[in-house]
Amino acid sequence: MTYLLSKENFAKIGEFIYRKSGIYLEEDKHYEKLAKYIDSRADELNMDSFRKYFFKLRFDDKEGDEFQALMNAITVNETYFFREKDQFEVLVNKILPELHESMPINRPLRILSSPCSTGEEPYSMILHIVEEGKVVEQRDIEVVGIDIDSTVIKKAQIAKYSERAVHAIPKPILNRWFVKKSLGYSLSEDLQGTVDFHVANIFDKTQMRKLGKFDVIFSRNMLIYFDDASRKEVAMTFYDMLNPGGYVLLGHAEYMSRIVSVFNAKKIDNTLIYQK
Ligand SMILES: C[S@@+](CC[C@H](N)C(=O)[O-])C[C@H]1O[C@@H](n2cnc3c(N)ncnc32)[C@H](O)[C@@H]1O
Repeated sequence: MTYLLSKENFAKIGEFIYRKSGIYLEEDKHYEKLAKYIDSRADELNMDSFRKYFFKLRFDDKEGDEFQALMNAITVNETYFFREKDQFEVLVNKILPELHESMPINRPLRILSSPCSTGEEPYSMILHIVEEGKVVEQRDIEVVGIDIDSTVIKKAQIAKYSERAVHAIPKPILNRWFVKKSLGYSLSEDLQGTVDFHVANIFDKTQMRKLGKFDVIFSRNMLIYFDDASRKEVAMTFYDMLNPGGYVLLGHAEYMSRIVSVFNAKKIDNTLIYQK
């Protein structure tokens, strides 16, 4: 099979994607998927060469729609409710009570899920917060979710989930907060709108700054797609976005200490957390 994208041009567009999104594509793993996407996109645009497509992507994409479509095609959005569940328990039982005591009472505690994919992660935070109850009765908690992929953000806003997405939620919690539909589950109306979702690229400083400051940042299962230089840049972005004393939590396969030394690593109940 021959594609418009040659192996040589894979390196060029790979470098462009890496520079703009931090996502590092490897030829042996990702060539086929990207080449197929470019063939179908070039076809839709009536273009007969990679050169024309790449020109449009770089120089004729003022609204960013072409880049957005490319991101939507290449990101890996795997997620489910209560994934790496211990971290949600540490959040509600340890981190939020501690921050509630130490942070000024006249402002909300703010939590960022970056990236949030289709919303399972930030809604898992909300489910833990409402089930635990203590802190949320005493002060406002705001949860914000961001992702570079606009299709997953649209799905998160609709909050309809498959059996697979909810499989790890204990039955009593599922029954309390979801409505069973003919296909899958819908988040109950009481919880819809409790997460503020945005399309944002973690490497876009302007977009990230607009989100404001946070007390807790969950960034799970994204850094694995980056190299160390990008991980370092993201770690420093989180550092700038955190209030003093705030925390970062990463996925189980991810780490921070090897790449930056600005955070204090702490272990709570076997969960590694990083404090500013
Ligand atoms: C595997 S999902 C992880 C979702 C969730 N945090 C979890 O652990 O279940 C990774 C997400 O990272 C997003 N992503 C990749 N690069 C990004 C970037 N530069 N800025 C924001 N989101 C990004 C992808 O679109 C994808 O939805």
